[in-house]
Amino acid sequence: MRSELIVNTRPKSNISENIRTIRTNLQFASASKKVKTILISSSISGEGKSFISSNLATAFAQTDKKVLLIDADLRKGRIHEIFKMKSNKGLSNLLLEDDMSEMKHYIVKTEIDNLYVLTRGTIPPNPSELLNSDKMKEVFETVEEIFDYVIIDGVPVVGLPDALILSKYADAVMLVCSIKYTPMNALVSAKQAFERIGVPVTGVVVNKVPNIKSNYYTAYYE
Ligand SMILES: Nc1ncnc2c1ncn2[C@@H]1O[C@H](COP(=O)(O)OP(=O)(O)OP(=O)(O)O)[C@@H](O)[C@H]1O
Ligand SMILES: [Mg+2]
Repeated sequence: MRSELIVNTRPKSNISENIRTIRTNLQFASASKKVKTILISSSISGEGKSFISSNLATAFAQTDKKVLLIDADLRKGRIHEIFKMKSNKGLSNLLLEDDMSEMKHYIVKTEIDNLYVLTRGTIPPNPSELLNSDKMKEVFETVEEIFDYVIIDGVPVVGLPDALILSKYADAVMLVCSIKYTPMNALVSAKQAFERIGVPVTGVVVNKVPNIKSNYYTAYYE
């Protein structure tokens, strides 16, 4: 199957160029505080969060910074599939450990230099509770000491508290939307949901814009 890590496999494509532009914008998003932890969310499911977060993490790693991609979609996260890894042990399992020094057994180095992944782990019965736990706070405090950038592959806002919970650990929140797929009112509601809890949305990524220059079989949407 073709790799979804387009920034790695086709660095010269338009989409890779656009993802690097998003990276640069995030690097300069705030004059007062360095953006280190970035949450990728969306209004509804299937808009491209996992695709964008894994490519954005790759783009950050290409700047020689140490990057961790966390799959915080404890219900149906598929970062392990994108990186062709097993997801036996991951974030959900780490959150049940007493000792955070065990973390080194959960964070996996990828084939891309400087890029590490914490996969979803076993699907737990209580994802929201786990994400809202003191342990999760401890996980972020620890990884922020070790990594230059932490990218969180999140969940959609509509219908679940998880994305709003995750935003409290992030310095920047990006909303992915998808052309001809995301209803405008869903996008606006998602933005408002973050704003209601005092979290401004840093930016919106418009995904799956048809690339008229490429043919159907090789095209990745921009
Ligand atoms: N720009 C793109 N070009 C081509 N395919 C894409 C693009 N973005 C996403 N896809 C494809 O669309 C599908 C859904 O994307 P993805 O899994 O990233 O969405 P998601 O928002 O993470 O979904 P979920 O809410 O289920 O977690 C995947 O098969 C992915 O490969
Ligand atoms: Mg996803």
